[in-house]
Amino acid sequence: MTSDGDGRHPGPERWQAPGRQRRVTIREVADLAHVSLGTVSNVLNNPSVVAPSTRERVREAIRQAGFVRSTAAQQLRGGRSRMIGVVVLDIANPFFTEMVRGAEHVLREHGYVLMLCSTEESPEQERRYMRILEEHRVDGLLITPAEQDLDRVVEFAGHGIPTVLIDRERGAQGLCSATVDDVRGGELAARHLMELGHREIAFLNGPVTIRQCADRRKGARRAMRSLGQRAGASLVEIGVASTTVEHGEAAVPQLLALDPPPTGVICANDLLALGVLRGLAAAGRSVPGDVAVVGYDDVTFASMLSPALTSVRQPKYELGAAAAELLLEETSGNGHEHRDVRFEPELVVRASSGSGPR
Ligand code: RIB
Repeated sequence: MTSDGDGRHPGPERWQAPGRQRRVTIREVADLAHVSLGTVSNVLNNPSVVAPSTRERVREAIRQAGFVRSTAAQQLRGGRSRMIGVVVLDIANPFFTEMVRGAEHVLREHGYVLMLCSTEESPEQERRYMRILEEHRVDGLLITPAEQDLDRVVEFAGHGIPTVLIDRERGAQGLCSATVDDVRGGELAARHLMELGHREIAFLNGPVTIRQCADRRKGARRAMRSLGQRAGASLVEIGVASTTVEHGEAAVPQLLALDPPPTGVICANDLLALGVLRGLAAAGRSVPGDVAVVGYDDVTFASMLSPALTSVRQPKYELGAAAAELLLEETSGNGHEHRDVRFEPELVVRASSGSGPR
């Protein structure tokens, strides 16, 4: 507030944050170029209708004045935000980082920027983010849902915002999806340990309300039915609240307390596997000598651990890129039909599963 000397307060003085310049207006550009507001608007939105010499004069005035167009103003005129919402389960998980990288590389080629939201597997947080993204009028949404059902996502898409599921099957819903066959992935992990001779196998899983965790369990059980029972193998599942390193490490005493103790452990993702490796080391157990460990995702650190982690590889970058391509197809219209893009997982065998139980 400033005073004009007689004690009256003429009102709050506009305070500019240091270095924060006042936004240059389109009126100032028009005055600088000696043209109308409409001509400046045409140069910005429909340059082909403006004479080249005038167009250049206006563009020079824009450069000279430091004018930056406001997408918010453009949105109000029904323009596009050029923003894509991306909602993932946990941005601290390198799986999602690499997946988002794939999506971004595709979308930025088409002038889009991402608004990245990490729900930390919370459906409540997911609902809050989706409301905010809608308020920001995103031009599209890529989402790995935390919600078990897709009602909210379908409703969001029903508001006319192209929406693609990543890492989650669409089921009967009218959406596109890019996914990896997690049932097959769980089966690969369990078959690997059984073929090495392991009979007492534990499966450290995240919440089965998360489809990925439910499908991996389904695959491990399918392997047990086809291979395990004949060989007298058993699969014991231990559930944790979240698929993090900390939850993996904290679960190790429970794993070791199983009777008989497992000689092989399948983890629902590489973060859990890293935690299990840490917990086993702290408990004086050798890997794979005492306990073989198999992860899931094959994130960047998996091959760098000691012992290097056997893991079910997901094509993370390709998954994100494929979802982004589906979203661009849908945004362009042109008779787009919803479809699934499906990738296959691959078992990458490394030292943490070794050559079988002692
Ligand atoms: O978020 C849990 C898991 O689901 C991730 O680790 C990744 O595997 C995803 O598919």
